[in-house]
Amino acid sequence: MKKYTIQTYGCQMNEHDSEKIAWMLEQMGYVFTNNKESSDLIIYNTCAIRQTAEDKVYGQLGSLKELKRNNPDLIICVCGCMTQIERSRNIINSKYKHVDIIFGTNNIHKLPQLIMAHEQTGDMIIDVIEESREINENIKSNRTHQHKAYVNIMYGCNNYCSYCIVPYARGQEKSREPENIIQEINKLSASGYREITLLGQNVNSYGKTLQQNYNFVDLLKDINTIEGIDRIRFMTSHPKDISDELIEAYGELDKLCNHLHLPIQSGSNKVLRNMNRKYTREEYLNKIRKIRKVVPDISITTDIIVGFPGESEKDFRDTLNLVEEVKFDSAYTFLYSIRSGTPASKMKDQIDYTTKHNRFQKLLNTLNRISLDKNQSLINKDKKVLIDGISKNDSKILIGRTESSKLVHLKGKKDLIGKIVNVRINDANTFTLKGQQI
Ligand code: SAH
Ligand code: SF4
Ligand code: F3S
Repeated sequence: MKKYTIQTYGCQMNEHDSEKIAWMLEQMGYVFTNNKESSDLIIYNTCAIRQTAEDKVYGQLGSLKELKRNNPDLIICVCGCMTQIERSRNIINSKYKHVDIIFGTNNIHKLPQLIMAHEQTGDMIIDVIEESREINENIKSNRTHQHKAYVNIMYGCNNYCSYCIVPYARGQEKSREPENIIQEINKLSASGYREITLLGQNVNSYGKTLQQNYNFVDLLKDINTIEGIDRIRFMTSHPKDISDELIEAYGELDKLCNHLHLPIQSGSNKVLRNMNRKYTREEYLNKIRKIRKVVPDISITTDIIVGFPGESEKDFRDTLNLVEEVKFDSAYTFLYSIRSGTPASKMKDQIDYTTKHNRFQKLLNTLNRISLDKNQSLINKDKKVLIDGISKNDSKILIGRTESSKLVHLKGKKDLIGKIVNVRINDANTFTLKGQQI
């Protein structure tokens, strides 16, 4: 039996694409292995969001040279966002000659064909479609989890934040037909899935490319009626597009989880303007206030970039005081990384590494202190936890998530996996809660 390994970098979009790739490979008779040495096919599903993400892939590809020399039949594939960017694709193509197949995010359905074509000729195959209006509905997924599932609702992004490569890698925004989404979720529910996460770079724009008049909130309302599905999540929202209608939906839809990931990026209006984010800090704060009025215990998480070109000490302080004001439950923080071809890469006044690093550390300290406070405030509270699986470090410990998406550790038996249980929280640290079933 032929074996494959798949290594995934980047966001949930890529994780879900890897689930689709895994399904196709298993249809072809491949079985999964963690072990590269014993693989017949190795796939890197890449991310281009920051230079560090790209460098990891180059490092990995370099280290495969030897493996390929010892096993010339090994097929090495690279896909994902890096292959959609001409510059990165050319680097892979010219420097890593032992790569066999390069394919893009718009044609993952062609992988079986590309593998066969490569097996016949032995040639390196590059098949990338830069822009596609089509959505392939025929690929199923070999899902990582048994009880929670990712569901794409839209692809691409039209926002062109000045630092971001995604619109160039993932192309123009396009929405899936609601009928196809609902059908997929109905099937998931019938197979025992209880939680779904709707995926899009900018889910609030859902529906704009549809013929019919149907928006994101319409979709949430329809999904809320699907029996068997208990939890609905979505990633990612853009602050400029969070509508009053969506905020009200939080109050109406019982399955919509009390969590909102709302990337702020910076607390400075000057930086936000230069980032082309199209909202001000005041508008952001106002939306947070509105949503907390509807869902007082909502967990708010965010993304923040430190060291955007031109970010002064004052701008950075504005980020810090915004963080103090909102009190995020947690945040992903990033050092600004120059992405060639984006407007920000040409901006003057790029911030030096040491300054960026110092600010990053300060920000992290503030965020961690707030996360710890917030988590500790949950001690002695009872929360509903969907049990995801067993801890990697201790087989007697189960791990799960609250509705607000906080990670919980508790003692329990395996048969609770996939169930929603009531848990009394009795301990908390910065990133996890501990509790016991009640
Ligand atoms: N579509 C989502 C997130 C996409 S990428 C959104 O708009 O929220 C995830 C995060 O990576 C972004 O929110 C941003 O914080 C970060 N990011 C994107 N480009 C970056 C860059 N050039 N340098 C550093 N961080 C970046
Ligand atoms: Fe990138 Fe902005 Fe689109 Fe998010 S909304 S993917 S940060 S361009
Ligand atoms: Fe990375 Fe592509 Fe996602 S660039 S963050 S994998 S959309």
